[in-house]
Order: sequence, then structure tokens, then C-alpha cells
Amino acid sequence: MRIGFISDIHGNFTALEAVLEDARKQNIDQLICLGDTVSLGPEPRLVLDALREWKAVTIMGNHDQAILEPERAADFEITEHLIPDLYWGRDHLRAEDLKFIESFESTHTIRFEHGIELLAFHGSPKSTTHLIQAITPQELLDVYFEKQTATVFIGGHSHIQMHRRSGEILLLNSGSVGNAFKFAFTPGNPPSLLPWAEYAIVEQDGEFLRSDMRRVYFDIPKLIERVKQSGLPGAEWWYKQYHYK
Ligand SMILES: [Fe+2]
Repeated sequence: MRIGFISDIHGNFTALEAVLEDARKQNIDQLICLGDTVSLGPEPRLVLDALREWKAVTIMGNHDQAILEPERAADFEITEHLIPDLYWGRDHLRAEDLKFIESFESTHTIRFEHGIELLAFHGSPKSTTHLIQAITPQELLDVYFEKQTATVFIGGHSHIQMHRRSGEILLLNSGSVGNAFKFAFTPGNPPSLLPWAEYAIVEQDGEFLRSDMRRVYFDIPKLIERVKQSGLPGAEWWYKQYHYK
């Protein structure tokens, strides 16, 4: 079984299109989205349409929670200056889109052959806002993964790809489709973006478990044009990221 994991699309349909084109060529059996689907970027509806078209299992991210309950954005750790974009995204969704977001799962389990169990989530199995990185201390991982029976874990949220083995468990992060960060986000240090999209393919092949961290280049001028057309409040941020005026 060959599974594609995408995460943190953040309304960047241009990046998602490029990833899905690659995923089609890679003959994946199933697509799983690890959350943060629509807020911040110019094309929230097209992102949700694509997830439905691909019959993607989709997991709830903190930004998805905030789209559903924007008045509680701070509880979902949404930075203050992103609030206008959050409301803009919500205003551009249809009732059926909000219903679809409400249906997102909190975690998803996949059982491969040879007793290998994989658990997918957004931040950690316990919370959409837990941040797991290559440098996260073992004591915290012990808390996040306590009582779990899975041995392979995959999440998003950090916007940075990761392949980390810790004791008997394998911890993966598929990176971000729409907002791949150069460096880990820390408060007071605004993120800067890489000019590509990231995703992962995990495959059980006989006794082998393989993970493929993929990087896909996408059409940045097209994204900028779509941002210009959109009327997104945070348009300037996108221009700055890609050195457009
Ligand atoms: Fe995110």
C-alpha cells in the first residue's frame, strides 16, 4: 500500500496542483491530508474541492478549527496579524465547505502488513497545537505518545519535513504543501518560505517500510497572480516571500 501524505496547504492551490500532479505519477493508493487546509492563501474553495475529488482522508488542523470558530482563534494559537486572513478565508467558503471541515478526523490509523500500525495527526496525537520537531526533547515525546500502540507516526504543523527514529518509534513529518518554512517558527521570528511544496509517500512493500520525502516546484508567478486577483488582506506577505512588489 502506497500512501501520499499532504499537510499545511493553507489555501495555496497552485502548490497543491503541482503536488497532486506528482502524486498521480507516483501511483499512490490513498491520499491523507494532515490538516491546515484553507486559511491564509488565496484559493480556499479549490483546495477543498480537490480534497473531495481525491477522496482524501483529512485530519483537523489548528487553522481548520480556527476557520470553524474564528472568535476562538487565540485558543488555536493563530497569530494576531493572521486574523483578517482567517475571516477572509471563512467568508469565501460555502456552507457545504464548512460542513466538510467539520467532518475532518482528529487522528487516523492505518494498519499495514506485519503488524505495523501508523497513526496520522496534525500536531501530536493529543493536540493540533503541539509542535514536534527534530529537537523536541524525549520527555515531551513520551507525553505526546503515551499509551499509543502505533510504531510509525506522521504529522504536520511544523511546516518542516522530518524523519526521526526515537526508541522503537519512527516519527515523520510530511512538511508543508503551501507554506514550506526555511526555519522552524518561533514567536517573534516571522517565517520565511521556501520556493517549493513538500509532501511524503509512505509505502509498505513486503517487509520493508519506506518513506519518501518529496519536494515539488510549483508555478510561483501563477500563485502571485492568484493572490493579486483574490483581494486577500495578507497579499503583501505573499509578495514579500517571493520578492514580488
Ligand atoms: Fe500550518
